[in-house]
Amino acid sequence: MKLLRLIALALGGLVVLVLVLVASLVISGWNTMHASETNPLPPLRVPPESALEGRGEHLVLTNCVGCHADHAQPPLAGGSRDFFDQPGTPPLGHLYAPNITPGGRLKDYTDAELARVIREGVNREGHPLVVMPSAQMRGLSDRDLSAIISYLRRQRPAAHTVPARQLTPLAYLMLGLHVIETSHQLPVTLPAPDMAEGMTVAYGGYLTPYLGCKDCHGADLHGGHKGQFPPVGPDLVALASAHDLGAFTLALRAGVSARDGHALDPVGMPFPVYSRLTDTEVGAIYTYLQSLGKK
Ligand code: HEC
Ligand code: HEC
Repeated sequence: MKLLRLIALALGGLVVLVLVLVASLVISGWNTMHASETNPLPPLRVPPESALEGRGEHLVLTNCVGCHADHAQPPLAGGSRDFFDQPGTPPLGHLYAPNITPGGRLKDYTDAELARVIREGVNREGHPLVVMPSAQMRGLSDRDLSAIISYLRRQRPAAHTVPARQLTPLAYLMLGLHVIETSHQLPVTLPAPDMAEGMTVAYGGYLTPYLGCKDCHGADLHGGHKGQFPPVGPDLVALASAHDLGAFTLALRAGVSARDGHALDPVGMPFPVYSRLTDTEVGAIYTYLQSLGKK
């Protein structure tokens, strides 16, 4: 009897321990999301009559529209996709990419605050975002970032609002466990120099993080791995060394596989957004991928 009572006590203790651990992780996740980040505001001022608006529009149309608009078309009035309520995902809550036209919260942001939220994932109240891919944007030059901000400000205001972000205790638990990471990045403190556009390895190496290729095709672009967040993309370094620029361009912009000619899945591989990439940009990405194969 004594032994049974001891076992029961030990099991009870274990359950309490696990509950305390789970609760402290949930609290830690909650604290992460509600912390006021101390990232200083970058000294970025966008010139009023910016001649870079065309460049800004191009950068927005090859990235931001994929989430902040429906069917990858402006206006950037907010997307209807709930990132935290997808088939097959656990109950994480609700999260939509908000309206980023002057009809939404954009007008309350200063240029420096916009620079910080885009590149560093910290909103104007100083709280970190989730899902917003600031890790992709942290490497943007000041010129390209100014171009994006200038374009965002000149859009026609749209009044649409998306439902507010809601996170469940499970989402906070996953944040506490770092299964989900926030968008928060280290501050960009130095001026970020201009990047020359051309079919160069350097420009390709600049574009691929911004366009998010590594999310699906692996950190080294040698293909995603099983167990990563889907979809898993094939080895792009091998692809660029086995096929010519023409076949690569057709795959990237029109969704025709260079490997076997099949029609790529436009949801898994977002080529409709990449169809807007210029010849120079596709050439730069291809040159960069080839250079990785030669290492
Ligand atoms: C993968 C989808 C995705 C892409 C691509 C994306 N965003 Fe976001 N963005 C989000 C989500 C989701 C949020 C809301 C995050 C939150 O509330 O935690 C957000 C938030 C923002 C905010 C904060 C708005 C506010 O009300 O405080 C700004 C500004 C923003 N994004 C700008 C951009 C710009 C500019 C681009 C392109 C350079 C871009 N985003 C690309 C998903 C995305
Ligand atoms: C959201 C995930 C995702 C992103 C982001 C992504 N890809 Fe893909 N990509 C895929 C998947 C999945 C496939 C395979 C699709 C299929 O076979 O139907 C693919 C296929 C491809 C192919 C065609 C391979 C073939 O069969 O010829 C090319 C080329 C390619 N991606 C290049 C890129 C480049 C360059 C980028 C960045 C500019 C990029 N992808 C970004 C997921 C992605």
